[in-house]
Amino acid sequence: MEEFAGKTAVVTGAGSGMGKAFALRWGAEGMNVVIGDIQQDALDATVAELAAAGVPVLGLRTDVSKLSDIEALADAAEDRFGPIHLVNNNAGVEGYLDGPIWAATAKDWDWTLSVNLMSVVYGVRTFVPRMLAHGEPGHVVNTCSMTSVIAATNMYGICKHAILALTEVLAADLAAAGAPIGVTGLCPGIIATNLFHGSRNRQAALRNDEGMSASGAELRDRMHATLSKGMPPSEVADKLVTAVREGALYLLTDHEWDSRIEARHAAIMAGAVGPAATGALDAEGVR
Ligand SMILES: NC(=O)c1ccc[n+]([C@@H]2O[C@H](COP(=O)([O-])OP(=O)(O)OC[C@H]3O[C@@H](n4cnc5c(N)ncnc54)[C@H](O)[C@@H]3O)[C@@H](O)[C@H]2O)c1
Repeated sequence: MEEFAGKTAVVTGAGSGMGKAFALRWGAEGMNVVIGDIQQDALDATVAELAAAGVPVLGLRTDVSKLSDIEALADAAEDRFGPIHLVNNNAGVEGYLDGPIWAATAKDWDWTLSVNLMSVVYGVRTFVPRMLAHGEPGHVVNTCSMTSVIAATNMYGICKHAILALTEVLAADLAAAGAPIGVTGLCPGIIATNLFHGSRNRQAALRNDEGMSASGAELRDRMHATLSKGMPPSEVADKLVTAVREGALYLLTDHEWDSRIEARHAAIMAGAVGPAATGALDAEGVR
């Protein structure tokens, strides 16, 4: 997709972080912008910012873990602006970090997988057939992660590996169909966002009665501090515009973790014993 002006973009999770930066950036490219987020006040703030910049904008509260909400977002976008050309399946949360994977509850799995992974499945299911039907050039961006390409260390990584795999399947199916729709698996490294405060928006029905573990809270605080020193989301938006224009399937925002990517693949090829060889653990054996 090379022309953006006058076309329509949909961005989920646009109340904060990268989603907000993408919405502002697509607006600056002259696009109509439709945004969804589960947090109403954050959604309203992004809508106000876009409107103040003169961008034609529509915001709709959307819980991306629900197919019906994503369909409602697509319907609203088409009602207001007509054909949808660009979709950023972006909303996500840090998910379960409270202990080993076998200790996760059904609600932990449901929250983490539905918001991070099923949201992208639903986004593809909802938007791609509509984009194929109008036949104009388009693009789907699935927000994966650098954790999509290193050895997975937690439930979030499980989702992000799966999203990258889904992205590859989507790209292959669209190419086989001869569709004028590009696909990018965006793999951000450490970006300064509120990701590790994702549980602020954990749906009531998916919360555990006992709340967050002390170790989980400590890990979240540590990771939030790390992210706050990361790349500004606007810089990721700049890279994304170029990747969409060029039709890049993969976009790694940086190469800080190249050695971990290589270590994982070398360990697989070598049939390595134990996680140490995969790059999942640092020099002190810490994930
Ligand atoms: N920040 C990083 O370092 C980093 C690295 C790799 C990938 N990512 C991914 O980037 C994407 C954007 O996250 P971010 O880092 O900007 O974090 P963020 O918390 O700043 O933004 C995420 C947005 O998603 C929204 N959201 C949460 N649950 C939702 C739901 N059920 N329905 C709709 N919206 C929901 C939040 O309200 C928030 O506005 C996520 O998919 C995340 O996994 C982030």
